[in-house]
Amino acid sequence: LSVLALVPAAGEGVRLGAASPKALVPLGGVPLVEHAVRGLLDSGSVDHVVVAVRGKDVDEVLTLFAPESSPAAGPRRAVDVVAGGADRCSSVAAALWHGVRRYPEAHTVLVHDVDRALTPPAMMSRVVKAVAEGADSVVPVLALADTVKEVDQAGAVLGTADRSRLRVAQTPRAFRLELLCRAYRAAGYHPECSGLPLQVPLDEAGLVARLQQRVRTVPGDPLAFPIITPWDLRVAQMMLGSSAP
Ligand code: C5P
Repeated sequence: LSVLALVPAAGEGVRLGAASPKALVPLGGVPLVEHAVRGLLDSGSVDHVVVAVRGKDVDEVLTLFAPESSPAAGPRRAVDVVAGGADRCSSVAAALWHGVRRYPEAHTVLVHDVDRALTPPAMMSRVVKAVAEGADSVVPVLALADTVKEVDQAGAVLGTADRSRLRVAQTPRAFRLELLCRAYRAAGYHPECSGLPLQVPLDEAGLVARLQQRVRTVPGDPLAFPIITPWDLRVAQMMLGSSAP
């Protein structure tokens, strides 16, 4: 079964406070977007990757993947780069419509955040396997380590959440391609127009759940943490064993 992966990477990464957009922030000398794409391809579970970056970064990102994005690379290790949208959902939709047009034979689609640079390859294989075994929609999750409080607007505690029923959702998420397309169309995203902002921002698994589809969970991995703040970047650098930015 052919597997397509989408990497929404068009965020500015404001919380990282870097001079460049998050996709181009280096980790161990390699831009985050390159970590994400190589992680997917090197897992051996993914055939094609479509990356959505800011429109003005498309050319620069294409040069990172020159061997894979050239026709000489053959069908297996192809990387496409498209312009993303104003929010994560629009960026995923832009990559999705491009991917469906270019790889109509794909059966499974992964959606993987650009900032989870250290995601172990086994996570890619785990979610792809779950779809191959019949799941329509799969999210890797972690149990919560901390106690979670609900608070009012003034910050006073209203209650304590039942941690045993809560999970942190990671990426890559995996779906049957046909189902993800249906979920995006139902949410108002169409190939003919660029994405419409949703009133209630949902992740793609949330859009699928809106179709009353069951979303399965598989074990996540602490190494798949998102690099959001400078502190996260430091942790990732230490995990890589590099002191270089
Ligand atoms: O900003 P946030 O943490 O929600 O971003 C999650 C993911 O969505 C990141 O990979 C980011 O690059 C991506 N994103 C995007 N297009 C946007 C905003 C975020 O692809 N307009």
